[in-house]
Amino acid sequence: MRLLMVCLGNICRSPMAEGALRARIGGSVLAERIQVDSAGTGGWHVGEPPDRRAVACASRHGVDISGLRARQLQKEDFDRFDWILCADVNNLRDARRIASKENEGKLALLLDWARLGRELEVPDPYYGDLEDFEQVWQLVDSAAQSTVARLLETH
Ligand code: 4NP
Repeated sequence: MRLLMVCLGNICRSPMAEGALRARIGGSVLAERIQVDSAGTGGWHVGEPPDRRAVACASRHGVDISGLRARQLQKEDFDRFDWILCADVNNLRDARRIASKENEGKLALLLDWARLGRELEVPDPYYGDLEDFEQVWQLVDSAAQSTVARLLETH
């Protein structure tokens, strides 16, 4: 199963979501079955590492995301991935614009897909403070735990 985490800049929420899920999958039986990546709907930060506040927050939770580099969501991603999991409804709308009709069904809100709540969003922490980043971590890590539980059920 291939999962792509998507936000706006690919420097805050989606790299944190990618890091949290990688860490939760860890050395489990799922490690060989799941591939995780992330991308942004916008291209402003392409090639950059995650925001230093995101790196610091993940690090406080024992996860190193400093090696990730931002990239922009591509049309081809809809062929390469099984699920395109978006942080908020704006990301979902922007991603839908480049999806073909056949691939629209691969789009979902991350927290909805992880069964944490219908139409629940991961709020953009870019103009926020450390607490906002911490809140993002709690949400994406809850999503990661829920994803692992769901996939283990069907393993
Ligand atoms: P992200 O946060 O979508 O969680 O990576 C943002 C990063 C950059 C910008 C906005 C949101 N920006 O406007 O540059």
